[in-house]
Amino acid sequence: MKTYKIAVIEGDGIGSEIIREGIKVIDAVSQLNDFEIEWIKYPNGAEYYLKTGELISIHTLEEIKSNCDAIYLGALGDPRVEPGILEKGILLKMRFYFDQFINLRPIKLLEGVDCPLKNKGPKDIDFTVVRENTEDFYVGLGNRADIGNTKQELEVIRNLYSVKFKLDIDAKKEKIAYQIGVLSKAGCQRVIKYGFELAKKQGKKRITFVDKANVLSSMYLFWREIVKDVSKNYPDIEYEFNFVDAITMWFVKQPEYYQVVVAPNMFGDIITDLGAMIQGGLGLAPGGNINPNGISMFEPIHGSAPKYKNMNIANPIATIWAGALMLEEIGQKESKDIIVKAIEKLLTEKKIRTKDLGGTNTTSDVGDEIKKLVLRTS
Ligand code: IPM
Ligand code: MN
Repeated sequence: MKTYKIAVIEGDGIGSEIIREGIKVIDAVSQLNDFEIEWIKYPNGAEYYLKTGELISIHTLEEIKSNCDAIYLGALGDPRVEPGILEKGILLKMRFYFDQFINLRPIKLLEGVDCPLKNKGPKDIDFTVVRENTEDFYVGLGNRADIGNTKQELEVIRNLYSVKFKLDIDAKKEKIAYQIGVLSKAGCQRVIKYGFELAKKQGKKRITFVDKANVLSSMYLFWREIVKDVSKNYPDIEYEFNFVDAITMWFVKQPEYYQVVVAPNMFGDIITDLGAMIQGGLGLAPGGNINPNGISMFEPIHGSAPKYKNMNIANPIATIWAGALMLEEIGQKESKDIIVKAIEKLLTEKKIRTKDLGGTNTTSDVGDEIKKLVLRTS
């Protein structure tokens, strides 16, 4: 029997409760489809950081790299830790270390879910956002400089390249703060190509690239040139550019227009929270951090919701769905389809739902029911 090893990081807040349900459902589907998962738990998160001072060690990263087929992540973030420490020190660290350059976020309104947009249904909201996941303003190059002269050196090290900035800042009259975004040619090429390939695989005819080329032109005219160049290999797919502000309007006004949307890291972050809302809420939005030739990591788009910790009320569907995406990535597409169908069945039955969807059921009720529906698949 095929056995996969999956690293599990439950993380903070509701992390352990939602991951528990994901594992429950995946273990059920693995019985049907004759494979096995060995779950290897790692304690990283706020509690562990407060106890040991360690975010995630190189030893852990290397161990996951040599041992595991994928990573299943709950959520990170805790009020006891300053914002950004866990996010950057664990989540972004892993995205960069494993070079998970794609953040795949399906924006799909499932059957049985009310859409907050008037007169829109499951047929209207069904597209995929491909978010670049390693570059842009997420490279972490930024600082403050006092009035006067300051010299600063900033460096980005990636698998593809490294780049150093030697800044000689002369700030007159005012203190300043700055942030540098970086796009590399190879970094753009690979995410753009991934978008076109995805469109091809899904039989889609149009792909939309997001930017803000009217203002941040040095970055995004570069991006556009690379899009135009890569597009030559895909003559059957129509491509276009949307400004990020405009696309937020169109997601609300005419979501049915979109098929595949490719965005640089930060704009992709922002538009996928909007995407999550039009697909019924954050409790229903999964994501995959993908390295097509390496180790990918799957997580819900939502955060750790610390105020709901240990209450067994969070909606586990985003995490269960993320688990399904993970199964597809490791080669168990049929299992993914079974889980997504079971989620849809649960949602259309409208009997068991958590508070965010207007119900009174617990996190575990939802997991138990999805498990039951999965096992009922013949
Ligand atoms: C997300 C989150 C992260 C991001 C944060 C927690 C660093 O918002 O996965 O969308 O900005 O990528
Ligand atoms: Mn986000």
